[in-house]
Amino acid sequence: MTQSSPETIYLKDYTPFGWIVENVHLTFRLHPTETRVISRITFAPNPDAPMQNFFLNGENLKLVSAMINGQPCAPDLSAEGLSVEAPAGRFVFEAEVEISPETNTALEGLYMSNGMYCTQCEAEGFRKITFYPDRPDVMSTFTVRVEGSEPVLLSNGNKSSNGDGFAEWHDPWPKPAYLFALVAGDLVNHPDSFTTRSGKDIELNIWVRKGDEGKCAFGMQALKASMLWDEKVYGREYDLDIFNIVAVDDFNMGAMENKGLNIFNSSCVLASPETSTDDNFERIEAIIAHEYFHNWTGNRITCRDWFQLCLKEGLTVYRDSQFTADMRSAPVKRIHDVIDLRGRQFREDGGPLAHPVRPDSFVEINNFYTATVYEKGAEIIGMLKRLVGDQDYYKALDLYFTRHDGDAATIEDWLKVFEDVTGRSLKRFKRWYTSAGTPRLKVKEKFKNGRYTLTFKQETPPTPGQKQKKPRVIPIALGLLGPNGDEVQPTTVLEVTKRQQKFSFDGLTSKPIPSILRDFSAPVILERETSNTERAFLLAHDTDPFNKWEAGQALRRASLIASITTGSAPDSAFLDAAARVARDDSLEPAFRALVLQSVGQDDLAQELHSIGNTPDPQAIYDASETMAQSLAHHLADSLPRLYADSTLSGPYTPDAEGAGKRAFNARILSMITRMDGGTRARAQFSAADNMTQQLAALNALLAQDTGSQETLAFFEQWKGDRLVMDKWFSTQVAFAAPEKAALVAQSLTTHPLFDMKNPNRFRAVFGALAMNHAGFHHASGKGYALLADWLIKLDAINPQTTARMCAAYQTYARYDAPHSTLAKAQLERILATKGLSRDTEEMVTRILKD
Ligand code: TRP
Ligand code: ZN
Repeated sequence: MTQSSPETIYLKDYTPFGWIVENVHLTFRLHPTETRVISRITFAPNPDAPMQNFFLNGENLKLVSAMINGQPCAPDLSAEGLSVEAPAGRFVFEAEVEISPETNTALEGLYMSNGMYCTQCEAEGFRKITFYPDRPDVMSTFTVRVEGSEPVLLSNGNKSSNGDGFAEWHDPWPKPAYLFALVAGDLVNHPDSFTTRSGKDIELNIWVRKGDEGKCAFGMQALKASMLWDEKVYGREYDLDIFNIVAVDDFNMGAMENKGLNIFNSSCVLASPETSTDDNFERIEAIIAHEYFHNWTGNRITCRDWFQLCLKEGLTVYRDSQFTADMRSAPVKRIHDVIDLRGRQFREDGGPLAHPVRPDSFVEINNFYTATVYEKGAEIIGMLKRLVGDQDYYKALDLYFTRHDGDAATIEDWLKVFEDVTGRSLKRFKRWYTSAGTPRLKVKEKFKNGRYTLTFKQETPPTPGQKQKKPRVIPIALGLLGPNGDEVQPTTVLEVTKRQQKFSFDGLTSKPIPSILRDFSAPVILERETSNTERAFLLAHDTDPFNKWEAGQALRRASLIASITTGSAPDSAFLDAAARVARDDSLEPAFRALVLQSVGQDDLAQELHSIGNTPDPQAIYDASETMAQSLAHHLADSLPRLYADSTLSGPYTPDAEGAGKRAFNARILSMITRMDGGTRARAQFSAADNMTQQLAALNALLAQDTGSQETLAFFEQWKGDRLVMDKWFSTQVAFAAPEKAALVAQSLTTHPLFDMKNPNRFRAVFGALAMNHAGFHHASGKGYALLADWLIKLDAINPQTTARMCAAYQTYARYDAPHSTLAKAQLERILATKGLSRDTEEMVTRILKD
């Protein structure tokens, strides 16, 4: 990595590129270390742009030759790109460059993975392939010729010709360079087809390494379901003759929406019942949908600049969550999303890495593919939909698609279509995009003479660079229940727009029990004094499934916080209520599983910190263990029956209903394992014919510090399957006791199958370590030190993945001096590393500013 002084880029500095790119011709002569890329690009002056020097981005490229209008030219080269005197009017720029895919371990640009060539260009990887105005508002049609001996040669668009050792592709849809893709390898395909509602036949393929053919069927089914869903719900059809998906083992993220050629981390597309869990199946279905949906929200309409990233990501996440809700259970999906939002986004929003959903500056854009941009970005769309109603939402979307098709658009463009359709101003609402931090919403209630009044007070704590916060528009879905459990006020949406606001309900015969923020209608933290009786009442009676679950969570959290801060025993109100839900066969198993699910230990640290307490990771762990143990004892009599009732017979299918039953079954098994020494889990481990149940049994054993035989057996059974091996690596670290976690992780790094160049394997060990709250934050400091050792090593190989994983330290300042000093020392050690990447430098610097 070259250590050029990291430059900050600002949204306010946006200027359009001085030229329009009319077309791009690329020829690739593939070679592991000497790939030639020959480009021919037609530029024409952009009448809407200010005068500027002609500059093309380019990094780590060996320039062989360059020509303008057929005449050799001598450009000025820098570490960032090339500049050259541009002729007036239209001209053709040609260049030949050499790159080395085999030694490209950053997995950005053109690289090799298991002998196959593949690309990753978002956000700024295309500049590592050839000289180009690598920015999303420069859109062009691409014609690509791939020359290589590989049997399969793919690029974007439709195939125009192929022959011995070459293939040519043409993408008729203008696109930014970040959507470019190329794949070449000895691949096999799982083919299918889809007929669009206007009668066009589309060829579909999932391309995989030999041996993975049997893991494609589910992904293909998900793709077809996504195509149909987008036609039905958003009226969006696919627009090329062919849609290809490729599975790649070495990949920095989940998947990439390249036009007509989506590239997937193999963990996000390959699935089979024997090797994948229910969670894997659900995630694969969602990611396939996500990338497919990008074809309209991202590709046909793209982003003007990277500050607008949420324009495509927030909306596409929102769309894939709607899809999952339709395909599976809407309440279960909502609860999963909120758990994830609180665990990752609230955590980010409350610490040194907090940034607006639309940031206004960055050093390295790769560091802004965050939970805030994606998940909070999606929450904003959900709020908008709730505020304007379904009908106007879809009207606005139709307008967005017609008005902006082919555009590189902004958040302003997006909000404008809603303003035009509804006639309401979204000026205040826009603060959700520009202001960071999670609003806290205090609620007070009053009941007098049949009138019930709720007073809301909102406040957002300061975030880096934003001290003062203006009030937000907060849609609050509210219901009121009578003392007998009947709903006296069905769900209505209150719109809080001021710092403090009152809402009254008249004609009530008795004080109602409020169900506030139903369906989690806004990403805020609700602060309300309430009683356990009321929480138990809502858990029993609320008609809103989200708030019903939330009431149970609140009970559990209150009990845990009390145990941690005062040493009190688990609250019997919670134990009774949870046991009642567990035994209640009229409730869906998936819901019962969610009520039995423990609260994340990092979430508890977050909550303690927010009430002015210094979280002690070991105390949080101990209280969580005691709680789990008490619940198991409390339910002891029923466990055998519940286990038997939730055990499915017959062949495994990855449907939502079965998954719900298995999730419940797994919770019961973990409780049984706390009491029977592991007999039940061992039996389930050996008998399991699917990964969900096999892994549930292994996890239950590991959580009780046993299961070494099963760990070995699992290894022997699955050592040939790299995706299952990732599970083997991660589960051992995830379930290790606090004092052992770092040791387990360290010893796994010496395993012959550990490979730090593979992001999945690296994350399997170190992602799991970072998520093992009491293990990572162990008082010995071993977790902090071990992760730092490996991040320093990885940074020289893969800056993008290193930088993302630095986020493990983002909460360090929450903890007491012994912990935080140890963590800080490791951050400083990382920062002092010679030749540290810009990616990692930015992350560590931001974290240390806290
Ligand atoms: N746009 C991709 C998505 O959300 C994510 C993405 C961004 C990505 N940068 C990447 C994927 C780098 C892989 C590597 O679907
Ligand atoms: Zn996306």
